[in-house]
Amino acid sequence: MRVGVLTGGGDCPGLNAVIRAVVRKGERLGDTFVGFADGWKGVVENKTLPLDVERCRGILPKGGTILGSSRTNPYKLDGGPQRVQDTLHANGVDALVAIGGEDTLGVANKLWADGVQVVGVPKTIDNDLSATELTFGFHTAVQICVDAIDRLHTTAESHDRVIVCEVMGRHAGWIATYAGIAGGAAEILIPEEEFDINEVADYIKRRHEAGRYASIVVVAEGAKPKEGTMATTSGEVDAFGHVRLGGIGNLVAEQLERLTGFETRVTILGHVQRGGTPTAFDRVLATRFGISAIEAVHDGAFGQMVALRAGEIVRVPLAEAVAELKTVDPELFQHVAVPFFG
Ligand code: F6P
Repeated sequence: MRVGVLTGGGDCPGLNAVIRAVVRKGERLGDTFVGFADGWKGVVENKTLPLDVERCRGILPKGGTILGSSRTNPYKLDGGPQRVQDTLHANGVDALVAIGGEDTLGVANKLWADGVQVVGVPKTIDNDLSATELTFGFHTAVQICVDAIDRLHTTAESHDRVIVCEVMGRHAGWIATYAGIAGGAAEILIPEEEFDINEVADYIKRRHEAGRYASIVVVAEGAKPKEGTMATTSGEVDAFGHVRLGGIGNLVAEQLERLTGFETRVTILGHVQRGGTPTAFDRVLATRFGISAIEAVHDGAFGQMVALRAGEIVRVPLAEAVAELKTVDPELFQHVAVPFFG
């Protein structure tokens, strides 16, 4: 079979491991491959890259994606879906493996409905796809955050400061929750639970009164204040209608310093969290996803995506990628994280 491969959305540690697994297993099954550059953009514009086992040598430990990525939505472009069909036809593509998050796989699902033979692989450092228990990249991002928080403790403790650390997590606070617990944060603010900055400040003051002068506050970029408690700003929107986030940490830090009188600094980890080499765990998960995806292609399981459930890789309809997002269970959050903070 001739198989097209693309990676869409934000880059994510482990994408190259998926590509490598798809190609290595596929070549053994007799497939040839074509890479599409920069996600759906490459398919719309017929921008291709050679893809074979040789090209995949040495990429397993590399972050990012050798195919490039973008947040292009063909359904927002004039004649986009038809151009996708034309490109696939021109390259003799029998099947497509689309690796991406809810947006990329949402497009894959629509194309499947339009007759394209596509299999999906879920990806996001945010770990917020309900279709799968885990996504590769999450483990790596959490480890990067914990390493950073460990270092922030040094300065917080040396200078008796409050340090606000903003991490990614647009709709869900998985990274913030895991990194906050593992990094010994004093407070964790997540999108699932609107926060009251006055309560956060009171708690920090109580900590100081009890002799703990250094506090790390982990804030997910999507964390929201309770209505009327703190002013926020909003940024520009991408082709999928998502606002560009990043900055809530500054606002939280400003307000905490004002309300507590304690010197407060902020570190926004941003894209550092998506950079560099994937952890061994993510390489293994990504490899398992890649192998299962090409097997799904050979089984004709189109319109499906691979997913991790109860430790097994299973196939579920692509539509599940765009179903409700997987958020942090408030009970779990209260049970595991909150006892340490009260
Ligand atoms: O969806 C993954 C993610 O890393 C989010 O956590 C973050 O909001 C977004 O991507 C940032 O995207 P970009 O790199 O396009 O600014």
